[in-house]
Amino acid sequence: MLNWLENAVFYEIYPTSFYDSNGDGIGDLKGITQKVDYLKSLGIDAVWFNPFYKSPFKDGGYDITDYYEVDKRFGTMEDFDEMVKAFKERGIKIVLDLVIGHTSDKHKWFRRSAQAKKNKYYDYYVWTDDVNTDYPGVIRGLYYRNGGYVPNYYASQPALNYGFEQLDPNAPWKLHYTDPRLKPLREEILNIMRFYLDKGIDGFRVDMAGHLIKEGQTFDEKKYYDEYDEKTSGIQWFWHEVLGTIRSEYSDKVYIAEWDIPQLAIGKCGFDMDFLTHDTFMFNDLYKNEKDLNLSPYFERGDNYFSENGKGTIKNFLHYVEYLYEKLGDKGMFTAPTGTHDEVRMPTRKSTDIIKCIFAFALTLKQIPMIYYGDEIGMVHNYSASKDGGGKRTGARTPMQWTDGKNRGFSTVEEKDLYLPVDYEEGRSVESQDKDENSLLNTVRKLIKIRKSHSALNVSSAQEQVYVEGDGYPYIFRRKNEKESILVAINPSREAKTVTINGEVLYGNNYKKVGDKVELTGCSFLIVKE
Ligand code: GLC
Ligand code: CA
Repeated sequence: MLNWLENAVFYEIYPTSFYDSNGDGIGDLKGITQKVDYLKSLGIDAVWFNPFYKSPFKDGGYDITDYYEVDKRFGTMEDFDEMVKAFKERGIKIVLDLVIGHTSDKHKWFRRSAQAKKNKYYDYYVWTDDVNTDYPGVIRGLYYRNGGYVPNYYASQPALNYGFEQLDPNAPWKLHYTDPRLKPLREEILNIMRFYLDKGIDGFRVDMAGHLIKEGQTFDEKKYYDEYDEKTSGIQWFWHEVLGTIRSEYSDKVYIAEWDIPQLAIGKCGFDMDFLTHDTFMFNDLYKNEKDLNLSPYFERGDNYFSENGKGTIKNFLHYVEYLYEKLGDKGMFTAPTGTHDEVRMPTRKSTDIIKCIFAFALTLKQIPMIYYGDEIGMVHNYSASKDGGGKRTGARTPMQWTDGKNRGFSTVEEKDLYLPVDYEEGRSVESQDKDENSLLNTVRKLIKIRKSHSALNVSSAQEQVYVEGDGYPYIFRRKNEKESILVAINPSREAKTVTINGEVLYGNNYKKVGDKVELTGCSFLIVKE
């Protein structure tokens, strides 16, 4: 594993909503540059940026029309270069989103490949060989080419062609993933990576990394464990080619898969990191919100562990991560982020004390912590209408709440002209929390400091389960290396629990000493050095 990942803390920024520098109501790269000192004050090490490339925004920028251009909503390539410089000066690393599963249907590669006459881009996308050929999801009859194209997510996102897992004698249009006709596209992708790596960025988060080969591995959350291990051939071949090449040219860069199966992404395909998000029962079990949020079934999974009612369970999660630690060895590590642009906002309906428990857990666990912008001040899901193809996810993408004033200090535009609405829930702004020593924001800062100043909390240090009662309230674990040993106790439920913990208190919330025992009074955490 890369050295700098040992104690790295990541932060995700959705550029549309971080800071608007020119008063047009929408976030931009200059705005992010202006807020770099805030990022520094948090103590984070690296930022993952959602796409800022040229796009019609049918899917939040995950529908690219030009990989080499900054969309005008965000500024220019010069603004990007300045941003890189400002981040470098502060020692903060930059991770970009590499969206290579598909492009926008407005991308010139696709326009060319849709032409009747064969050209350079003929094999860039997944096309059937006849407009009458049926195939699941195929879009037919829109273009002159005699064939239909296979989209990935929305109809406007035609799948780039990395081949199929197997040849099909009845469908010769399905190229095998090793077919030499697919090499030019791979070369194109490598060039995009080189372009940004040459600008000094530090790595990529790869969109849909596990789903690039058609008819390859499928997603089935019930088969999370060893069953998956055998199903990697095409995608494994692909990533060995691509990561192998790029790693031989650039060292020390991080590659983060959006896959949600770390034993494959890291263990088999050579990534450094992978997520535990999306539809994984692990993420649902921990952070997702109760059913009465009135969003959609995708977002609502009932009881979760970090909930005052104490009805969730942490056991499935622990079981799975134990398995992962063993499988991954020192090859890399997963991140269980506090949220992403695709999830319901974790702090929604959670008290500040519970959110503090989540951060105490996330920042001490054997994992690579990642904070979704705004979670550090407890921003809630704020959904009113879909924007940029976000659907209900739009509620997790609203403007960062900087101040208590107009537009939360995000933009000077008239409120009605804001690109996305701001939320005014009291106290949830950087301005108000900066002043309060015990605020969520300052708690997060302190926890990050603790993470960074204790090597026992490094990724490669051990983790032992010490105590899990019933379904896990309280949950106590130990982080340890040859230098030191740290004990972390969390009790998200509101019911008090008394435990025996000895050592020097590094940090805690809602606990009291009772004789030689400690009472975790509810919604509490405690971190001690043994
Ligand atoms: C990933 C992105 C998501 C996007 C999808 C399609 O899951 O995180 O926002 O809609 O890919 O590109
Ligand atoms: Ca702007």
